[in-house]
Amino acid sequence: MFKWIFMAVALVGITVTPAQAIDGAKVWKKCKACHNYNKARNKSGPSLQGIMGRKCGAAIKFKYGKDYKKACAANAWTWDAALLDEYIADPKQFIKARGGKRSKMAFRLKKPDNRKAVIKFLTDNAK
Ligand code: HEC
Repeated sequence: MFKWIFMAVALVGITVTPAQAIDGAKVWKKCKACHNYNKARNKSGPSLQGIMGRKCGAAIKFKYGKDYKKACAANAWTWDAALLDEYIADPKQFIKARGGKRSKMAFRLKKPDNRKAVIKFLTDNAK
């Protein structure tokens, strides 16, 4: 009996330890007012379903900003972890670096650890 309790406690200990890493699902809550990740339906922002490996500006029926479209037409990037990190850190700066001026995404995720966590969340779940 005591042995079992001891083992149960030990197991809980093992599963709890890695929880120190930032939970990407929690960070996602900051994005979800404007984006879906597992449905094609757009909100005020484009759906991010399948965003990893997706071309810029590819959400069906979403009206991207003029400058976003311009930057995308000129650079035709494919989203990966590094580009997502640059974009969500400062969308306006990202568009500026690619020949546009404005971004319709009025949101910045400043903390690198939060960006890393939410990108992991999208990599695993935005399918
Ligand atoms: C206030 C609403 C809002 C929030 C919050 C927001 N976004 Fe956006 N997002 C937008 C809009 C609007 C666009 C379209 C940008 C444009 O047309 O200039 C966009 C575009 C994007 C794109 C480009 C998609 C494509 O189809 O090329 C990505 C990637 C993205 N957002 C990720 C995120 C992530 C990740 C978060 C959370 C960390 C987030 N966004 C938070 C509104 C938002």
